[in-house]
Amino acid sequence: MRAVRYLTGEAGIRQFLDIGTGIPTANNTHEVAQAVAPDSRIVYVDNDPVVLLHARALLTSNREGACAYVDADFRDPDEILAEAGRVIDFRRPVALMLLGILQLIPDSDDPFDVVKTLLAALAPGSYLAITHPTGDIDPRSVKAAAVLDTMSVEKRTLRGRADVARFFDGLEMMPPGLVQVSKWRPESQMQAAAPASRWAGIGRKVT
Ligand SMILES: C[S@@+](CC[C@H](N)C(=O)[O-])C[C@H]1O[C@@H](n2cnc3c(N)ncnc32)[C@H](O)[C@@H]1O
Repeated sequence: MRAVRYLTGEAGIRQFLDIGTGIPTANNTHEVAQAVAPDSRIVYVDNDPVVLLHARALLTSNREGACAYVDADFRDPDEILAEAGRVIDFRRPVALMLLGILQLIPDSDDPFDVVKTLLAALAPGSYLAITHPTGDIDPRSVKAAAVLDTMSVEKRTLRGRADVARFFDGLEMMPPGLVQVSKWRPESQMQAAAPASRWAGIGRKVT
């Protein structure tokens, strides 16, 4: 919510490419964006048919803006860009949202190169927003991730801060930089004190 509010408000972004949508809950990207700027356009991308079924049913745009749902894999950026291009004008700035997805892409699938390919297609003035679980902040998260791994097909890669920072190579980091998610522009003391074990940051593509 804080990231989308910042991007729509201070950064003036009107187009979002949200990869790794997740099962819709409250305050989904288009709801937060369109509450600030009703003409915001959002493309949700996921490779889980159950997620997409829920997304199509629940993530409905208002009349001024638009929402689209793309069934594609993060590891196929060319398909994502081609499909998203039906709704997003890539000549104008876009916010690429990778919230809670990159830990599901192992280094062997080179997520760094995929992010580079996606960013290369975006106009100057675009943004990259990432949240990424880590073992740096609370070592107990490593154990928790291992337990989750026993229950799911996808395995988690908890990256350290330096590795997460690599996703932002060549971008200008927006304040406060790459920080614990609860310290990223918290809106209350309680939010700032939350013991979340993930890094969060937003970078801007300058040229
Ligand atoms: C942990 S959820 C994150 C949901 C939401 N972005 C959030 O931050 O709350 C991860 C989502 O990424 C999707 N996902 C995982 N691997 C993917 C891939 N290779 N391509 C596209 N989506 C993927 C999953 O289906 C799931 O919906």
